[in-house]
Amino acid sequence: MINVLFVCLGNICRSPMAEALFRDLVEKENLSGKITVDSAATSSWHIGSPPHKGTLAILKKYNISANGLVGRQLTKQDFEKFDYIIGMDDSNIRNIFEITGKPKHPKILRLLDLTEHQKDVPDPYYTGDFEETYQLVSEGCKSLLEKIHNEHYLK
Ligand code: 4NP
Repeated sequence: MINVLFVCLGNICRSPMAEALFRDLVEKENLSGKITVDSAATSSWHIGSPPHKGTLAILKKYNISANGLVGRQLTKQDFEKFDYIIGMDDSNIRNIFEITGKPKHPKILRLLDLTEHQKDVPDPYYTGDFEETYQLVSEGCKSLLEKIHNEHYLK
């Protein structure tokens, strides 16, 4: 099993969007039996909460299921469980290093570093632009699945 975890600050906007989008890609490629997908926050602010209404609306617009998205906080144990730990921005990456105690481990990556953008995913909690974030997260998720294909024999 290949275990993928998306991480952001609150686990209500960007990382649940990535979880839903990536799970959709995995299901469309019939890889659900080989890849698991989850998301978590670096903060404790929204433990047990559903995604932000803006994230739910954009997922609905693109016909992506939001089933099972519930806020939780990243733990030190997640470092052992997951093979890819994907932060949305530089601040997430620093916080992941702090929580896991594993600075600069190759399994910890910033999502858009897998694309030509090489930048932070803008946080729609502050920008209000869920469409912009959706398009970037979608691109990042496609690149991540390609990377996983390149690193594992999946079919
Ligand atoms: P996220 O966005 O990290 O993409 O889930 C945020 C969600 C909540 C807060 C900040 C950012 N907050 O301050 O509660």
